[in-house]
Amino acid sequence: MQTVVVIDYGSQVTQLIARRVREAGVYSEILPWNIGLDEVKQANPAALILSGSPASVGDSGAPALEPGLLELGVPVLGICYGMQLLTRHYGGELERSQTREYGSASLSLVKESPLWQGLGKVMDKVRVWMSHGDHVKTPPAGFDLIGSTETLPAAAMADHKRNFYGVQFHPEVHHSECGERIIRNFLFNICKLTPDWSMSSFVARTVEELKKKVGDRQVVCALSGGVDSTVTAALLSRAIGKNLHCFFVETGLMREGEADWVVSTLREHFDLNLTRLDAQDVFLGRLAGVADPEEKRKIIGRTFIDLFDEAAHKLDRVDFLAQGTIYPDVIESLSAATGMVIKSHHNVGGLPERMKLDLVEPLRELFKDEVRAVGKELGLPDEFVWRHPFPGPGLAVRILGEITGERLALLRKADVIVLEELRASGWYHKIWQGFAVLLPLKTVGVMGDGRSYEHVIALRAVESVDAMTADWAQLPYELLQRISNRIINEVKGVNRVVYDISSKPPSTIEWE
Ligand code: XMP
Repeated sequence: MQTVVVIDYGSQVTQLIARRVREAGVYSEILPWNIGLDEVKQANPAALILSGSPASVGDSGAPALEPGLLELGVPVLGICYGMQLLTRHYGGELERSQTREYGSASLSLVKESPLWQGLGKVMDKVRVWMSHGDHVKTPPAGFDLIGSTETLPAAAMADHKRNFYGVQFHPEVHHSECGERIIRNFLFNICKLTPDWSMSSFVARTVEELKKKVGDRQVVCALSGGVDSTVTAALLSRAIGKNLHCFFVETGLMREGEADWVVSTLREHFDLNLTRLDAQDVFLGRLAGVADPEEKRKIIGRTFIDLFDEAAHKLDRVDFLAQGTIYPDVIESLSAATGMVIKSHHNVGGLPERMKLDLVEPLRELFKDEVRAVGKELGLPDEFVWRHPFPGPGLAVRILGEITGERLALLRKADVIVLEELRASGWYHKIWQGFAVLLPLKTVGVMGDGRSYEHVIALRAVESVDAMTADWAQLPYELLQRISNRIINEVKGVNRVVYDISSKPPSTIEWE
């Protein structure tokens, strides 16, 4: 399979570059800038894309260009900081800016280039999206200036002989109207690649690889009902059938009716070895009296591992542990290993070490939207494929303070109303996540003629593409009003509903 390697210099939108390349049908991997030349060579890239960065080229500690990358003999596209790295390396001139240029700009195609194919004639203009501080003043010798904007004479450059290209704008963001075409031009017109990455080819290839890797040995899998673990199980089930053993742990921290629905729907659609472990009492018992968020998470993780490990080891034989790790998790661990840390969640971190089993992670290469496409390809119903993410520790991170059966019941009632109304209004599919949170405080209200002193529910609804950043969803007032009225009228013990209007960062999506 042909691979385009994206070298990550720390831009917020590096992942988007790899996604766009994959959407064009070419497999793409992201590697941190300081991973070392040998690792890049191992990926056998057919082309390189150098990402943007919040840093300033040449500052102390700023990500540097590994010169060996330019000796690999493959085409290179530098985006923003990537363009500036090329410029500095080949002796061009950079200019520092005090202010960032941010937003839409009009790019003139000042010279013909295979990068511009299909965009228009020379001197035509196209809209692109900029986000940069420093910029190129003079392109290096050997590079033609191929694009300019009013504020940036050197907005795009090309060394057509060596197939090195640099653009100051961001073709990977949707606001660059011709961005997709520019990326396709780079892949197909310049690198001469052929599209060979699709979800059906992924399924066929992965099923064969899994058959080879696992043979007739036995695999265990903790199935949560979330998209990732369900698609992992579905793929393995197709590859190795009944040699896959799935366990669903009922923690008692799921949404209303969720555990029953997940187990029965999975049984309906797949011929799985699926064991349900009912452990509500164990979880609630261990969580009694605990209010600290980290402590709650730790208890839940440990309890889960204990139960799963015990159940799995009752099988005659176990060789592998299947996990629904997806590509953003892999990028995060790689970044963490090379010092570019982004936050990650590990529901059951420690499970592989504890079980001493080899791992099978068939979704390691996939972005979330690709996982969903694979799920569809495997025949998972839409209700599964399009589910909102749900955190491993479940409602425990949405009940601030102590977890009790009573408080769980109260939150569930409010949460059902939120979901019903989101679905009925068509907003469920427009947002990344929407849910209710039970706050650890009571407030005063009036109900009928009397004073009430009851709980507060917070609503959280966010838009996001990957949960790394998120914005609060601008739900219509009427919808918020309906949700609030229903919760206060129908959920006994709640007299106030508030809406969370914080974005991530600096807030997180979950409250704990
Ligand atoms: P935060 O709250 O960090 O959440 O903005 C980002 C995304 O991750 C989900 N989340 C979790 N998922 N285990 C998970 O599997 C967890 O412990 C966990 N905590 C948060 C959250 O719902 C959101 O989609």
